[in-house]
Amino acid sequence: MCGIVGIVGQSDVCARLIAGLERLEYRGYDSAGIALHDGTSVTLRRAVGKLANLKSDLEQDCPVGRVGIGHTRWATHGAASVPNAHPHQVGNVTLVHNGIIENHTELRAELAEQGVELASETDTEVAAAWLNNRLAQVDTLDEAFADLLDTLVGSYALSVIFDGYPELMFVARQGSPLAIGYGDMRDGVREMFVGSDALALAPFTDQICYLEDGDWAAIRPNEVAIFDQARRPVTRDILTIASDALKADKGRWPHYMRKEIEEQPESLGRLLITLVNHTQQDLKPILPDIDFAAADRIILLACGTAHYACHLASYWIEAIARIPVEIDLASEYRYRNRPLTGREIVIVVSQSGETADTLSALTALAGKVSARVAVVNVSTSSVAREADAVLDIQAGPEIGVASTKAFTGQLLALMGVALSAGRQRGALGTDDLAELVSELTSLPRIVADTLGRAADVEAAASELATASDIYVLGRDVNYPLALEAALKIKEISYIHAEAYAAGELKHGPIALIDQGTPVIMFDSQGDLHEKTSSNVAEVSARGAKLVRIGASQECDLLVPEAGKITTSFAYAVIAQLLAYFIAVAKGTDVDQPRNLAKSVTVE
Ligand code: M6R
Repeated sequence: MCGIVGIVGQSDVCARLIAGLERLEYRGYDSAGIALHDGTSVTLRRAVGKLANLKSDLEQDCPVGRVGIGHTRWATHGAASVPNAHPHQVGNVTLVHNGIIENHTELRAELAEQGVELASETDTEVAAAWLNNRLAQVDTLDEAFADLLDTLVGSYALSVIFDGYPELMFVARQGSPLAIGYGDMRDGVREMFVGSDALALAPFTDQICYLEDGDWAAIRPNEVAIFDQARRPVTRDILTIASDALKADKGRWPHYMRKEIEEQPESLGRLLITLVNHTQQDLKPILPDIDFAAADRIILLACGTAHYACHLASYWIEAIARIPVEIDLASEYRYRNRPLTGREIVIVVSQSGETADTLSALTALAGKVSARVAVVNVSTSSVAREADAVLDIQAGPEIGVASTKAFTGQLLALMGVALSAGRQRGALGTDDLAELVSELTSLPRIVADTLGRAADVEAAASELATASDIYVLGRDVNYPLALEAALKIKEISYIHAEAYAAGELKHGPIALIDQGTPVIMFDSQGDLHEKTSSNVAEVSARGAKLVRIGASQECDLLVPEAGKITTSFAYAVIAQLLAYFIAVAKGTDVDQPRNLAKSVTVE
């Protein structure tokens, strides 16, 4: 959840550390800090709140140094305060950390017995103090650092610099992502970079090496020595990251979220080209090595918005491929002792590919199921590297904390899975496949048409912005959409929004409906239309202030006429715009809502 950046440079790195942190702020914004080595000693600068606060402090007095580390924090242990902000400095050790040191209480007690007093409440400072003590007990930095890693329990990405070693940085990775970037030569020396992801390092390099769990490295100018957990030297591949994967700006839009909502015709069009052959109305090979015909069920695992994409797709996959689908939250599944036959295909879905719960659930299933597939937006992420096969949703960088274009990309990718599995299993005939492909071909246009209705959505949102509670209802595939809409409203406007399957209304939730209670209803098509209309009548009779979304004339927010599948995407876009405009009307921080971080890399 926190962001780490480090530079072993040939010229002053202060401004570059800040540039890297700017691209990592989506991972946390409770505090930010940097530490620079000026050749003699290490200077710290830290500030509570967003990076802008640190930047304004640095305008008065910016430390110098050619080697430095930086951090943007999402608080776990200890409130957002300067003493709890990273980097933490104890004696000769200055370090930044992303993750959770689970045995920090024991280590803190051990240090207290030795008379070491700590300045913060964090789990991180304990690691700095332990390492500083160890340096006095062993002969080399390498030994002390490797001993620290053997001692720590939990998850960490660490980057450490030392007084007295002006050209050295140690890094380590266990359960939290960390990448090493190989920069250009400057005066015959290659500058080296460290970051939580390739996005942070984009201003400096596209040559990236991802550390594996248990790896640690000593980084000097021109030189990286990587070791595994057993302290053996290892080599890791250096990848060239595609430049498209590294673009991160708002363009003409006031927020990343709006820009990302507006990008959907393009992002879905891009993905569509890789899934279907438009002219032949056929599928392209999707996950060619996965044997859906031999599988006895599909298990879909994810968190948050990605979980709702799985929920919705489970209706499609069961209907099209005629295979049972189980869905679960990755955070629940990883601790559940579910019986497995070994013939399951597990599909984990994650925008970032770094969500700790999703990664753990995936890792725990190695060797226990027929195949583990990852649907991701970052094809070099930890989840993608762990999986047996990868489906890239190709949405491009998603910076807004609220997931939007990744959600629709996940839906489309999972529809690709449904079609591919349906064909392999003989459940989907050529004509039906051609019909579905033809419907999907219209998807970018349907989404673009829906975006064209933003002004109507904005007007409806202005009426909802003063609500303290909003209820969102839908049936069948619209139920997961209702859940996603409620999540979106909650996370960026802080309004209590609760979703129910419309058929459940009479089993309890209808007691909450009173004069003026806002209710958003996703209209059903086909057979369920009448049922949904009855639910509309029930809440209206109790005085609800209704916002009905659909294609029929009685709806308040109209979506374009579309097929059964593509309508779900239109509804998703309306829900995103609605949440967005409610938040804008309330004046909240749309892209960086309170308490959240984009990538949840701790449990
Ligand atoms: O990167 P992931 O897709 O694994 O992230 C999962 C959730 O943390 C994420 O979808 C979260 O719920 C978003 N903030 C929702 O907008």
